[in-house]
Amino acid sequence: MKQSLKQENRGLSGFIDLEPTAESFVDTVLAGLARPQKSIPSKFFYDRRGSELFEEICRLDEYYPTRTEIKILTERSGEIAALMGPRTELIEFGSGASEKVRVLLEALDRPLAYIPIDISRDHLRAAAEELAVDYPEVEVIAVCADYSQTMTLPEPRDHSHGKRVGFFPGSTIGNFTPAEAVEFLKNAAKTLGPGGEFLIGVDLKKDPAILHAAYNDKKGVTAAFNLNLLRHINNELQGTFELDAFAHKAFYNEECGRIEMHLESLKDQNVMVAGAQFHFSRGETIHTENSCKYSIEEFQELARRGGFDAMKFWTDENNLFSLHYLKVRQILES
Ligand code: AVJ
Repeated sequence: MKQSLKQENRGLSGFIDLEPTAESFVDTVLAGLARPQKSIPSKFFYDRRGSELFEEICRLDEYYPTRTEIKILTERSGEIAALMGPRTELIEFGSGASEKVRVLLEALDRPLAYIPIDISRDHLRAAAEELAVDYPEVEVIAVCADYSQTMTLPEPRDHSHGKRVGFFPGSTIGNFTPAEAVEFLKNAAKTLGPGGEFLIGVDLKKDPAILHAAYNDKKGVTAAFNLNLLRHINNELQGTFELDAFAHKAFYNEECGRIEMHLESLKDQNVMVAGAQFHFSRGETIHTENSCKYSIEEFQELARRGGFDAMKFWTDENNLFSLHYLKVRQILES
């Protein structure tokens, strides 16, 4: 027993559980479905099946962000590593497929610690353990928490560390509205502290036809990903959604500069969730995701409002995606 436990935790030097609240799923869904425009936050897409479907999206021909970001990261990894300097303490906001952070860890000069923050306990543990095994020289400390909130980060054993640098790839920041993104950035600045730096992946504004294709793929994987939210609610909140009575809808909202995903009711119907009944008219939608797109200048302005200075940015040759390197200028109150 002892031995298997030891083996299981080989490499992972800490697991800190800040116990992000689990009951918020039911509260949030009930409140969201009671609004005139029904809505459910996109963070609830990612149950086990949802995470699998998202990984499948990342491999689609039409979905350019993942491969484009990895290409920029790989091509610029030397430059990025030079900016970050030696003995970096790398903090990842969310812990997705670890391919991107591996590109950084390979390029960095003796990275000191890797601290992934994620709300999904099991996924976080599995991902962090794998990384710890593959990078035995790096102290890996997993923090189970809601990364949009502020938190006190663990101190690595070796106090002689270099910079504390945040990493937030994937344009996940696009899931926030601009106002929410500013709040997120203020909280991140507070968490990273004075002298902290931040590498963020941000999807760029572009021809809406390219965006439309990326969120309405031919194989229907994005549709399955969107509809899986209803299955997630059925499974965990005693929901009675009929999955074939709703349809995936994704479009570019030009005015807001964002892709919106919705689930459209295909008929008049009532649905139960956690003992409460909700009515859907035919054609009525649940707003399930915003994916905001920014020009370089727009994002730099957003970063400034969040308390960061824009140091540098990189894009691919087709101007599809951007990586921004920021530095904490000021810790602003949220
Ligand atoms: C992981 C939030 C960046 O907005 O492009 C992919 C999620 N939604 N296809 C995105 C997503 C539909 C993705 N983010």
